[in-house]
Amino acid sequence: MKKVSVISPANIAFIKYWGRADHNLYIPRNSSISMNISGCKTTTTIALSDKKEDEVYVKFFNQKYQQLNLNTRKAQALLKQIVRIRQISENKSKVKIFSENNFPADAGIASSASSFSALTAGLLLIYGLQDKFADKIELSRQIRLCGSGSAVRSAMDGFVEFTTGNDQTSHAVQIADQNHWDLVDIVALIDFDKKKISSSLGHELADTSPYFETRITEMQSRIKQCREAIIKKDLEKLGMAIEQDAISMHAVMMTSRPPAFYWQPGSMAIIQAIISLRESEKIPAYFTFDAGANAHIITEAKYLEKVNQYLQQIPFVKNTIINHPDLGVREINKHLF
Ligand code: PMV
Repeated sequence: MKKVSVISPANIAFIKYWGRADHNLYIPRNSSISMNISGCKTTTTIALSDKKEDEVYVKFFNQKYQQLNLNTRKAQALLKQIVRIRQISENKSKVKIFSENNFPADAGIASSASSFSALTAGLLLIYGLQDKFADKIELSRQIRLCGSGSAVRSAMDGFVEFTTGNDQTSHAVQIADQNHWDLVDIVALIDFDKKKISSSLGHELADTSPYFETRITEMQSRIKQCREAIIKKDLEKLGMAIEQDAISMHAVMMTSRPPAFYWQPGSMAIIQAIISLRESEKIPAYFTFDAGANAHIITEAKYLEKVNQYLQQIPFVKNTIINHPDLGVREINKHLF
């Protein structure tokens, strides 16, 4: 039985994707920028099968394998991507998929980024579409069509931009590879629960916020600032851009109709602690949040130990995950079944 396996990192967005220009082609309203993170990964094995139906088994963090419930919104997106890629290949065989994460899913750690990039890469390989996998721009377009924008950025190594545009021009672009800058992202886990409003629904609600257009206008200069900060390895410039962008995205979320509140008391406690760490100890560490309560703290590797210890003393913080810049999605030889 033909089998392929891939591994893909999640990524942390420095400039966030929130809101779409096109809901069918999943074109984002704004370009976003992220870093792949080494400690949060999805591994996926796909085999062609002679069964009548596709079968998908998933293993969430600290749980056993279970067959995926196909009634959820996310599972439907997944099935749509299987059918779409099968049609391109003209191979009619169904697939059997096993997929597992080594980190809590849906808690604002971009689980969709690693899982949908792994799924798409694995499907292209199993259905013999090696050219589309090897061309990273085409791979990122194929990933975009499954509906997860953050997953697009996991197509390439290191620091990556996902450009807005049209069906041809909205794709991943590498800013720098994983060896360019020894940044770290320390995830401070305060909450392991599933988020109440999925990001895919959030993208549809974004433009109901009266602040959405203001965000889009003001973030144009922030995107440039972030790109330049990465190229020049300017941590303070990067830190200011990522904090402003996270606050701006959460302001849009909280003022959408209906509103979405992802932050919890522990999130605010971390924000205040990080600001005070900068002021009192002069340690350059900066916070950001995706669609969840868990904080990502960005600093340089030389401050890792101090910042990690400091975070673990905050009463709300249950655990931390340490991440370095990582490669994008890639094929591996070790299969899950
Ligand atoms: O990839 P999606 O469609 O789940 O959206 C990602 C949304 C954020 O994580 C909040 C921001 C981002 O750019 O990763």
